[in-house]
Amino acid sequence: MEFENILTENNDGILQITINRPKKLNALNRDTIEELHQAFTKAKEDREVKVVILTGTGEKAFVAGADISEFADFSPEEGRELAAEGQSKLFDFVANFPKPVIAAVNGFALGGGLELAMAAHFRVASDNAKMGLPETSLGVIPGYGGTQRLPQLVGKGRAMEMIMTAGMIDANQALQYNLVNHVCEPEELIEFSENIARKIMKNSLVAISAAIRAINSNFEDGVNGFEVEISEFGNSFGTEDFEEGTSAFLNKRKADFPGN
Ligand code: COA
Repeated sequence: MEFENILTENNDGILQITINRPKKLNALNRDTIEELHQAFTKAKEDREVKVVILTGTGEKAFVAGADISEFADFSPEEGRELAAEGQSKLFDFVANFPKPVIAAVNGFALGGGLELAMAAHFRVASDNAKMGLPETSLGVIPGYGGTQRLPQLVGKGRAMEMIMTAGMIDANQALQYNLVNHVCEPEELIEFSENIARKIMKNSLVAISAAIRAINSNFEDGVNGFEVEISEFGNSFGTEDFEEGTSAFLNKRKADFPGN
């Protein structure tokens, strides 16, 4: 599949998706969101893809936000459509993706960029990364899930302050805030993320998909996450991966999960 705004490369089961609009600091325009949607849709079906690493081209920016030039003259109705379409096509799609998605935050992650990183299952940042939700400085609010996911990750008070001040925090503060799990040197960022991906890939990806559903259910209104856990736990007993995992353990050998 040919893309104009993103690059994709499968490295032994780890699909790296790189947002590639360096002249615009990888800002998310409509076409880029569409291409990301297509790349994730393909990755969902592709059995050769086990884990996705999402990053941005260069060392300056992960994604410097939604493309401001595209929505500067929007009406309230168009604004609502932009947020709704983006959330369903990309941000919720990534958050509920059945395979692990790691955001490797390699520079500015602002506005829609931080919202995209927060939609990923967890984040690793380079020590030059800067994160923030500057929307109120433009007279809008975050529209791609930022008002919901930031408080879930950093707590309500910190999220309030970040959104109200429209300020940026650096990688170490993001680590202290639990916004990112790890901070490393820029040149080590991809290798560091790949090492985590390889650890994940030793486990049952079927069980991991079930865990993603159970964990995410905690954040869905009107859903009892404990009930979802019970149901997903029970379903695991019917998988080939469970058969292989338990038999490998009992026979003191390494599991070779079939992924079913
Ligand atoms: N949308 C559209 N274009 C963007 C962009 C965005 N979110 N962020 C950066 N760009 C563009 C700039 O307009 C500039 O384009 P130009 O060279 O054609 O003028 C190019 O990317 C480089 O950005 P520039 O501002 O010159 O780089 P800088 O190093 O001086 O500043 C930032 C970097 C990230 C601080 C600054 O670009 C910025 O504040 N961007 C907007 C962040 C934002 O508010 N995002 C939330 C959007 S809801």
